[in-house]
Amino acid sequence: MSDQRPIGIFDSGVGGLTVLKAIRERLPTESTIYVADLLHFPYGPRYQDEVRGFAIDIIRYLETRDVKLVVIACNTATAAALNHARELFEVPIVGVISPGAQAAVEATKNNRIGVISTEGTMRSQEYLHAIKELDPMVGVYQKACPELVDIVESGQADSRHAEQVLRRDLADIVQLGADTLVLGCTHYPLLKPAIDRVHPGAFQLIDSATTTADKVERHLDHSRLRGGGGQPRHEVLATSVPEQFDQVAANLFGEAIEAQEVRIWEASKT
Ligand code: DGL
Repeated sequence: MSDQRPIGIFDSGVGGLTVLKAIRERLPTESTIYVADLLHFPYGPRYQDEVRGFAIDIIRYLETRDVKLVVIACNTATAAALNHARELFEVPIVGVISPGAQAAVEATKNNRIGVISTEGTMRSQEYLHAIKELDPMVGVYQKACPELVDIVESGQADSRHAEQVLRRDLADIVQLGADTLVLGCTHYPLLKPAIDRVHPGAFQLIDSATTTADKVERHLDHSRLRGGGGQPRHEVLATSVPEQFDQVAANLFGEAIEAQEVRIWEASKT
C-alpha cells in the first residue's frame, strides 16, 4: 500500500527550493507542499529562539495539511529547531545539516573543510559538531556570509556583484587550503556557477540538497511511507506576498511556479 500524503518542506525563502528540486527529482511520484517564510526572511541574523518559534509554527501548519514527513530545508532553522521539533511532533522530521556534514567528510582528501553559512548557523556550531563527530581529525573553517543570502533571494546569484562578494568571503577559506566547501545555507547552491568562476576547481562543493533527498528516500523506504500510483501534486506557498520568488523559482525549475500566499500568523511582520 502506498502512502499518498505529501512531504512538507520549508525554508525562509527561495533557498529550500534547491532541496525541493532534489527531492522532486529523486522521488518523482511524491507530492510536496513547500512553505517559504518570506514574512520572516531572513532567518540568519535572528535569535535562535525566534527562528525555533517560526519553525515550530510552520511544522504545526504542515501537520494540519497531513504531511507524512517534514524536511527543514534551511540550515539556520535546522540548527535552531530540529532537536526541539523532534521532541514535540510525531511526524518524522529531517534536517539539512547532518547529510551535508557526512558528504563533506566523505569528500575531503586533505582533511580541511570550509563551511559558509548564515550567522545563525555559524553561531550554533552545528556543522563543527556534526563534522567532528564523524571525524575529529578534520579541520573546520567557518565563515558567515549573510550578504550572499540577499544576493540569491534578489535573483542576482549569477552576477558580477555575487562574484565580488564571493571573492571577499571565501578569501580566508582559500588561504587555509580547504579542498572541500560546504554550502551551509540552502540559498548558496544557486551560487555554484559564480563560485566556479571565482575559484575554478578549488573545492569540492557540497550542498545539502542531494544528500538530504537521499536521506528522505531512505527514511520513506525504512518507514514504508513511499507514495506512488496517482499523479503527484505540488503546492508552493509563501507567508507573505512573493516578489522575486516566482522568478527565481521558475529559473530553478525551468517551469513557471506561482507561489500562493498562506496565512500562518497574523498579517503583521514580526
Ligand atoms: N536558507 C537558509 C539557510 O539554509 C537561510 C537564509 C536566511 O537567512 O533566511 O540557512
